[in-house]
Amino acid sequence: MVTTVSVPPLLSPEGSADPYAVYRVLREEAPVYFDESTQSYLITRHADVLAGYRHPAFTSRNYEWQLEPVFGRSLLQLHGREHARKRALVSPNFRGEGLESWIPLVKRNVRAILDGGVQEEVDGLLEPLEPGMEVDMLPRFAHHLPVSVMMAMLELPREDEAMFLGWYNRMIAFLANLENDPDVHSSGIQARVELREYLAPIIQERRANPGTDLISTLAAAEFEGERLSDEEVATHTTQLLNAGSETTDKTFGSVLRHLLSDRSRWEAVRDDRSLVLPVLAETLRVTPPSQMNGRVLSEDVEVAGVPIPAGSLVHLVMASANRDERRFADAETFDPWRTDFSFGKAFMGSGEHFAFGFGIHGCAGAQLAKAELEIGLNAMLDRFPDMRLADGFEPTEEGVKFRAPREMRVVL
Ligand code: HEM
Repeated sequence: MVTTVSVPPLLSPEGSADPYAVYRVLREEAPVYFDESTQSYLITRHADVLAGYRHPAFTSRNYEWQLEPVFGRSLLQLHGREHARKRALVSPNFRGEGLESWIPLVKRNVRAILDGGVQEEVDGLLEPLEPGMEVDMLPRFAHHLPVSVMMAMLELPREDEAMFLGWYNRMIAFLANLENDPDVHSSGIQARVELREYLAPIIQERRANPGTDLISTLAAAEFEGERLSDEEVATHTTQLLNAGSETTDKTFGSVLRHLLSDRSRWEAVRDDRSLVLPVLAETLRVTPPSQMNGRVLSEDVEVAGVPIPAGSLVHLVMASANRDERRFADAETFDPWRTDFSFGKAFMGSGEHFAFGFGIHGCAGAQLAKAELEIGLNAMLDRFPDMRLADGFEPTEEGVKFRAPREMRVVL
């Protein structure tokens, strides 16, 4: 039986203003709860979320409608052997030696954004950032870095960045469209059409004259005699552009919020860089940018004593599991000095926290994200040692599927 508890619907103004408050009640009183507004079962405790990621009946078929219309058949919705083979073609680019080769490019892009010279979203070039300036660090830094890194990896012209930002915003809105807004839906589909038209001749050109970029690498990649079709190269390119951008972008916003809303934290990490990794790991634990992963049950399953029928949409709520007081002491507090979290494994899919998901679909780009976040945060700490929140500014978070500060006004 599903327990009745008094919480606002997740998508109501009250629910979305503070979903963490909803999850706190659910973890305690109804760890498996049917939420009317999302028409899904919310699974909110750490142990149950981990079990869900591991359970073969928790399929990722939800991506057939949540993603396929804009991405094509991406890794997230494949399973079994097909998934393993395709993932083996993509993921080596983002770990070990594959990743090492991209690090100079990440550093170059961080510098380029801070020094100015990057294409502004509307028109013109971004101004260089100087100490003492008041800026919103989201449009001035966080939105640019992951997209520009991915575009550089794909070797796409920098002057097209504003176009890419537009496509990716519309595609992410499609994925986050829990409200089923028809305009958001059609705009996402149109973005796919435009991006595919843009990519098609580039993929053909790279097949004919391969370089060292990621599109050429994907086009030539071979695993057990199998290669990717043009359609698949376009799908993976689209997925990488989106999967790696929104999440890393939002993480920067949350890192700055955690460090600047209590400025002693900024000073502590500025003066002791061994805290950079714990700060990033705690940010992902307490405020994961992607807050929940959908799954569709292929058979009847019972979770925490609650039967869930086959065919149901469930959400593994990482934003709640990561704050489960059964797993972490003082779990809702951001604490880069805590001793019950192996920060060193936070980017390795160890299942301690779920910001990167877990199991076969666990994030393929976590190590790249780590590199961008570490290099980006260190550069900000070096250049703007006195950074603080702008006078009178209080960061507010928004979003239910994805969540992060709406603005981050600081004095550099
Ligand atoms: C802080 C940054 C990031 C976060 C929080 C994050 C989060 C996630 C999560 C939660 C999943 C699992 C989704 C599910 O199981 O339904 C995932 C999968 C994935 N991520 Fe990331 N991600 C980040 C950065 C990146 C980057 C930089 C890349 C680009 C290389 C990337 C590429 C992928 C891919 C390809 C998958 C699908 C893997 C599969 O289905 O086998 N991610 N990510």
